[in-house]
Amino acid sequence: MKILAIESSCDETSVAIIDNNVVISNVIYTQDIHTKYGGVVPELASRAHIDKISLLTKECLDLSKTSMSDIDAIAVTSEPGLMGALIVGASFAKGLSIKYDIPIIPINHIEGHIYSGCIDDPTLEFPFISLVVSGGHTSLFLVESYSKYRTIGMTKDDAAGEAFDKIAKLIGLSYPGGPLIDKYAKSGNPAKYDFPRSMIHSDNFDFSFSGLKTSVRYFIQKNFEMPIKESEIPDLCASVQQAIVDVLKIKTFRAANNYDVKSIVIGGGVSANSQLRKEFIKEAQNGYKIVLPEMEYCIDNAAMIGFLASKKLQHNEELNNYYNLEFRVSSRPSRAK
Ligand code: KG4
Ligand code: ZN
Repeated sequence: MKILAIESSCDETSVAIIDNNVVISNVIYTQDIHTKYGGVVPELASRAHIDKISLLTKECLDLSKTSMSDIDAIAVTSEPGLMGALIVGASFAKGLSIKYDIPIIPINHIEGHIYSGCIDDPTLEFPFISLVVSGGHTSLFLVESYSKYRTIGMTKDDAAGEAFDKIAKLIGLSYPGGPLIDKYAKSGNPAKYDFPRSMIHSDNFDFSFSGLKTSVRYFIQKNFEMPIKESEIPDLCASVQQAIVDVLKIKTFRAANNYDVKSIVIGGGVSANSQLRKEFIKEAQNGYKIVLPEMEYCIDNAAMIGFLASKKLQHNEELNNYYNLEFRVSSRPSRAK
């Protein structure tokens, strides 16, 4: 069973080939056009997807020495994401479906992230706690099978990646700010400034990061002259990063204890953060299994979309159910549970 997968929900265009649950190739193009605008510009994202999607599909097929006649199904991200960006991927997938008479499996992007840890680690067993932490999402899930999971917490306002990016902008760093905060934090003191750890004591698994952003804004206005001196940036970055990582870590392990689950899987762009990785991995010595997928499966990628489609088919879903080209893309998740 060979699946061609397409992902275009935000600012990554990606195409992958999955053969019986194994990723054969996964090409990702990250749009850099947004840097100069300080954030993703939806119209530019759609145009960049249009420019790249055919070329990436050809590159992906060539890399895996596969031709379209070998493909049994197409998987495509249908929700959630930027409307125009999703339309590009879905329309391209529908075109291929008509031309080659192959079914299309629409996939929820967040579900793709949830199961992305299973790509690298086939030994991973259910149940596990999944932390999806990216520029658009910060959620915790209790995952019981490939078709059953439950949202147990989510951010009430900004996502963690959004907080990294917005705070980086306040500090004077460019977009995306998460990797730059990570870089500067390496030479900074994380205990230098005490920023708020919002909702850390609440008895639920929800998050909130907009208070941190506001607090950093006022703190900078009061204590620094703009532009902030290069020498002052590392301590600020390390302290902000520590505040975000502390909340993510404490809430995730509290969820694992509450549901008596020993495996934790982290996905989404923020899982690239070196401090977050270090602190989660350390917990393995306390009997937890920590799965941090390879970066190519953490950031937005088509491999996770194709992998989940492949698993859905393996677990009872019929390929014949997927000849309906009338499915619509949606900027909000309709199927996420
Ligand atoms: O999953 P992703 O590629 O796209 C979304 O679905 O949002 O995540 C992008 C986010 C951005 O907010 C970016 O700043 C953040 O992930 N990010 C990081 C790091 N690398 C990427 N945040 C903190 N530390 C990093 N090393
Ligand atoms: Zn994503």
